[in-house]
Amino acid sequence: MKNLQLDGEKKRIFSGVQPTGNLHLGNYLGAIKNWVNLQNDIFSIFSIVDLHAITVPQEPLKLKSSTHEVAAAIIASGIDIDKSILFNQSLVKEHSELAWILNCVCRIGWLNRMTQFKEKAGKNKENATVGLYGYPVLMAADILLYKSTHVPVGDDQKQHIELARDIASSFNNMFTSDNEEDFFTLPKPQIIGEAKRVMSLRDGTKKMSKSDASDASRINLTDTKEEISNKIKKAKTDPHPLPSTLQELKDRPEAHNLLSIYSSLSDQTLEKVLKEFSGKGFSYFKPKLIDLAVETLNPISLEMRNLLKDTNQIDKVLKNGAQKAREIAEPVLKDIKNLVGFIN
Ligand code: TYM
Repeated sequence: MKNLQLDGEKKRIFSGVQPTGNLHLGNYLGAIKNWVNLQNDIFSIFSIVDLHAITVPQEPLKLKSSTHEVAAAIIASGIDIDKSILFNQSLVKEHSELAWILNCVCRIGWLNRMTQFKEKAGKNKENATVGLYGYPVLMAADILLYKSTHVPVGDDQKQHIELARDIASSFNNMFTSDNEEDFFTLPKPQIIGEAKRVMSLRDGTKKMSKSDASDASRINLTDTKEEISNKIKKAKTDPHPLPSTLQELKDRPEAHNLLSIYSSLSDQTLEKVLKEFSGKGFSYFKPKLIDLAVETLNPISLEMRNLLKDTNQIDKVLKNGAQKAREIAEPVLKDIKNLVGFIN
C-alpha cells in the first residue's frame, strides 16, 4: 500500500456507488471505467455506499446481496484491490461521525437547491427521510474524510460535489485562521469521457437509471449476451440516417446516446465515431454496437458470476479495505475534532 498519508501536492481519489440493485452501463461508463484507468496514476479509494442506500427503504437481505454484487462488479471491471482501497461505507464509522459535524456546517438553503433530492422525494416531500435530505452532506463527508482531491463521477453528481466544495470552504473559514494553511483542499469533480450521462434506451431524454421500471431501458452488468443484444435491437431510434456533425445530433437524443455509448466503449471521440458512421442507418450501426457492448461487458459479467460463488471472500476483501481506509480516516477525523474543539 503506497502513500497512505497525503502530503504536499499529492492527489487522492474518492468515489462511491450505491448498492441498490444491479449496476448498469451508465454506472460503468460514467464512473467505474474511469476509476479503473485513474487508479494507476492516482491513489484511489472506492466505496460501496450502503449508508447512502438506506436513505430510501431497503430490504435487509437484498441490501447484503446487492453489496456483494456491486463489489464483484467493481473488481470484475478491473479495480485492483492491492493497489486501491475498496470497502463498504458502514464499516468505517468515521463517515457517519464526520457527516454529523458537517451537518453543523452545511446550510439548509444549500440543501434546498439540490435537484436530486427534489427528483427522488417527488411530490411527497414531507414523507422523505431526513437521511435523503442530508444525503449530500454524507457524500461530502465521504470525500473530505480522506482529504480527497479528485472525485470521478458521472454528470448527475456534479451538483453534490460542488456542495462538498462549499462545505469544505466553509469549514476552512470557520476553523482555520488566516495565517494557517486551509485544512481541506477543495475536491474537484472529474467528469470524463464521451458517456458522462448515459440515457435510457427507451427514451433518450431520460437518464439511464436503476430505478426505471423498465428493465429494457438499461443494460445491466449482469445481462447475458442475448439480453444485451435484444435491448440494443429494441432501443428507441429515429427514422434518419446517422449525421456527420455534433451540431446535427443536437435534436436527436436517441442517436446521440447510442453514438456516445459506442464512442465511450471504443475509447474514441464522438467526432471520430460520427465520421465512421455518417450516412449509415441504425440497421448498420446497431449490430456494431451490439458486438462492442458484448465484447466489453460479457467478460465482466462472467467474472462477476465467478466472484459471487464465494461471498465470504468478498466480505474479507471489504473488511480488509475498511481497515486500510480507517488508517487514513482516523487521524483526519482526530484533527477535525481538535479544530472543532472536542476533547479527544
Ligand atoms: P450512484 O450509485 O447513483 O451512481 C454511481 C456512479 O455512476 C454514475 N452514474 C452515471 N453516469 C453516467 N450515466 C448515467 N446514467 C449514470 N448513472 C449513474 C454516477 O454519477 C456515479 O458516479 N451519490 C452517489 C454515490 C456517492 C459518491 C460519494 C460518489 C456517495 N458518496 C462520494 C462520489 C463521491 C450515487 O448515488 O451514485
